Amino acid sequence: MKDIKWGELPFGYSKTNYNVRCYYRDGKWGSIETTSSEHVSIHMAATALHYGQEAFEGLKAFRGKDGQIRLFRWEENAKRLQKSAEGIMMAEVPTELFMKMIMRVIKLNKEFVPPYGTGASLYLRPVLFGSGAQVGVKPADEYLFMVFVTPVGPYFKEGFKPVDIQLVRDYDRAAPLGTGSIKVGGNYAASLRPGTRAHDEGFASVLFLDAKEKKYIDEAGPANFFGIKDGKYITPDSNTVLPSITNMSLRQIAEDIGLTVERRSVPVEELGTFEEAGACGTAAIISPIGKIVDRELDKTYTFSTDGEPGPWSTKLYERLLAIQLGEVEDTHGWNTIVE
Ligand code: PLP
Ligand code: COI
Repeated sequence: MKDIKWGELPFGYSKTNYNVRCYYRDGKWGSIETTSSEHVSIHMAATALHYGQEAFEGLKAFRGKDGQIRLFRWEENAKRLQKSAEGIMMAEVPTELFMKMIMRVIKLNKEFVPPYGTGASLYLRPVLFGSGAQVGVKPADEYLFMVFVTPVGPYFKEGFKPVDIQLVRDYDRAAPLGTGSIKVGGNYAASLRPGTRAHDEGFASVLFLDAKEKKYIDEAGPANFFGIKDGKYITPDSNTVLPSITNMSLRQIAEDIGLTVERRSVPVEELGTFEEAGACGTAAIISPIGKIVDRELDKTYTFSTDGEPGPWSTKLYERLLAIQLGEVEDTHGWNTIVE
């Protein structure tokens, strides 16, 4: 623990002291359990294993300038997990239980909240899955909700530097009326092959198009896409992208700093008109995009030629981080102080 090099942390798992768990059995949630075990014992016929009855969340806690720990917009993650649960017929985690468990797990692992100024944060990973046995394709009658934490650095190793993205046309991450808008594991399984290929071909991530018509920008790997031009922050309105809490926050910040926000379908050709582009999410924060290469059409859209992020992306990033770190007033009430 003492040896953690906070400034060099990757976005990855490292062991902390404790995680918290709660079972849903016989139609109700039980008591919260605390454990230092990194393992879970579940039935071999658990629906999570066979039928993908699983959803997760990702949120961050930050050590502020004043030494306090701030958790960013946790209520939104609680709500989204409830939507995910509803979408694949799992027991919903009540907001109060969610809150109690995330607060407890942060307090139990306080020493792993990275110090202010290191660029690192504590990533919380709530996960909910069907732990009960079924062999027929049916929802489980037992669920496990658990939350672990891990200190993390930037998702893309470049940090706040432009990354290159590969636009793919031969894979979809989610079907038009499928599970794209909820945070279920299957969406990520579907993204592994194109994502790994993009990596092997020298890109940080993939950009998916809408699965139905292949005309519009959809999801930027594990993040939402935005583009900026003519004083406008433009982001896809699509029912196959995950409603990103970071993107929701950036839309507000964009307005605060004088941009107009447009949430609408974004045709692929419009990429050629953006002055700046980026991927946003809890893990990615803002990853400015240097260029997007359309793998199949062999076409390149360039947003940064000098290896630096654009001015609007920089402003958005700095303001978001300043709020999360308690450097500026939290005018929208997004932070919860962990006492
Ligand atoms: N899109 C996908 C597919 C994601 O996995 C994530 C990460 O949670 C996001 C977008 C960004 O969402 P948020 O800002 O809520 O983390
Ligand atoms: C997040 O941004 O929290 C994510 O879930 C992205 C990814 C690591 C799955």
